[in-house]
Amino acid sequence: MGEIFSIIKLEDLSFSYPGSDTKVLDHLNLEINKGDKIGMMAPNGSGKTTLLHTIMGLCKPDAGTIKVFGNLVQHEKDFLAVRSKIGLLFQDSDDQLFCPTVLDDVAFGPLNLGFSRQEAIDLSRKTLEKLGILSFEQSVTHRLSGGQKRLVALAAVLAMEPEVLLLDEPTAGLDNKVKEKLIHILNTLDISYFVISHEFDFVSAVTDRVYSMENGRILTDEEIHIHRHEHVHKHGKHPHIHK
Ligand SMILES: Nc1ncnc2c1ncn2[C@@H]1O[C@H](COP(=O)(O)OP(=O)(O)OP(=O)(O)O)[C@@H](O)[C@H]1O
Ligand SMILES: [Mg+2]
Repeated sequence: MGEIFSIIKLEDLSFSYPGSDTKVLDHLNLEINKGDKIGMMAPNGSGKTTLLHTIMGLCKPDAGTIKVFGNLVQHEKDFLAVRSKIGLLFQDSDDQLFCPTVLDDVAFGPLNLGFSRQEAIDLSRKTLEKLGILSFEQSVTHRLSGGQKRLVALAAVLAMEPEVLLLDEPTAGLDNKVKEKLIHILNTLDISYFVISHEFDFVSAVTDRVYSMENGRILTDEEIHIHRHEHVHKHGKHPHIHK
């Protein structure tokens, strides 16, 4: 084991949406270190998406501190730097994709990071290929199916070659074959990630530990015990996913 290198550190973070008294995040603490592959499974409305938006500076905390790579991030210019290093896959693909074609959407991030047009295109094609969707490159993004858009959104995040990935329900709407491909990609990526999902089989295949969230705080795996089990049920041999 090498030295522990902090990537994201949240301390005593509190957040309420404007006009609401409910503390979606309530003195929350979270630490993500280099090499961590952490899963997050928690009920609808528990604040998972809000947590990721706070890390990216899309929700401004009412109290507490956010440190990324050891540096305090507070102001918009600090978050601009954060967004070039941390890739967020939005829960809703339509929040991620806004260009006319798939290639434009995927190349947008690398272009923004300062890659040349040709470099951005090469990087985007390489990423689309890896996800098995290079044939979509000239497709009109908003006309794709939900699952296809999910893959394009993933490509858009991966093409930026972020140092950390925050994935908000990456498998939503994906079929089993594509899910397996995503599991393979995540397992071969040498980066840290934090992945929100409601699918235990997926989470257990791609992460080392699973956290949960309750009352605006993180519960670490010392406090939750998710386990595999033998079972029989009506789906028989048909590949299936456990919720
Ligand atoms: N833009 C918003 N304005 C006001 N309240 C919001 C907004 N977005 C989310 N909330 C509230 O914040 C709480 C947490 O929402 P959030 O989307 O973070 O939950 P989640 O854990 O991601 O849920 P899910 O599993 O359904 O995606 C919910 O009670 C929700 O109603
Ligand atoms: Mg959510």
